[in-house]
Amino acid sequence: MKVYRPNFDAFSREDYANHIISPAKNPEYFNRFHGPMVDALVNRFGSPVKILSLACGYGDELAFFEKDRRVKLTGLDISNEMIAKNRERFPGMEFAVVDVAVEKPKKGAFEGLVAVNATPYCPDKMCGYAFRALRRGGRAAMNFYTVSNEKNTCILSEIQKLGAVMRRISLRVRGKEFPMLEVDNSGRKTITKEVGTQLWFATQKNIEDLLSLIGFKIVLHQSFDVDDGSKIVASTETYILEKPRLWGVF
Ligand SMILES: C[S@@+](CC[C@H](N)C(=O)[O-])C[C@H]1O[C@@H](n2cnc3c(N)ncnc32)[C@H](O)[C@@H]1O
Repeated sequence: MKVYRPNFDAFSREDYANHIISPAKNPEYFNRFHGPMVDALVNRFGSPVKILSLACGYGDELAFFEKDRRVKLTGLDISNEMIAKNRERFPGMEFAVVDVAVEKPKKGAFEGLVAVNATPYCPDKMCGYAFRALRRGGRAAMNFYTVSNEKNTCILSEIQKLGAVMRRISLRVRGKEFPMLEVDNSGRKTITKEVGTQLWFATQKNIEDLLSLIGFKIVLHQSFDVDDGSKIVASTETYILEKPRLWGVF
């Protein structure tokens, strides 16, 4: 599989806001997923809870936690530029430049994790990294995109018209095959070519099979409509996941 690495260093904050669609800064998304997950973690572990934002980009999902003294936040991303900007914007948080596809986190270092629009990049690696980074009994909120969700038909055909090349491929993880749609954006004419190659799951069942294979327990699943401020453009599958406890203890 020929993978074009994403290059989000190319996106200024303005470019990012104008071209990239994400539920990260939607308060409804926070209120449905990140907020309740953190409340549950504080109840379980006491505060402060350590939360990792995986592939945090410009940190839109982090902004909701800025004044929350119950959490200690760390954001990581492969993009140097984004991490440098986040250090200025959120001086109270920790940041690191990390390539999740090649590096391993310290095992069990976080009670919670959020990953918004991160999994289209190496979904198996993103999920594996999340699992390892969490302590037992810890939880992650992660979203995924599927081809089978009919609300995504329109965005996929738009992306194709703009020059993306799509191929059905199979992603092999621990001996199991996962049918995926590979979306190679490198031929697009605008800055959006820099988002690189993304992988969309065929079905929701495929996502859940991968999550089980990694070892996660699914606590919650909900579809969430992502809008661009005026209309729904895509629909994402969001999960609250738990790293199971061993023998009932953390
Ligand atoms: C669509 S953005 C999402 C950013 C943010 N979470 C949001 O929703 O606005 C995807 C992010 O994944 C990061 N990324 C892609 N591959 C990565 C990797 N292998 N390791 C770490 N970050 C990666 C990109 O640099 C980019 O910031």
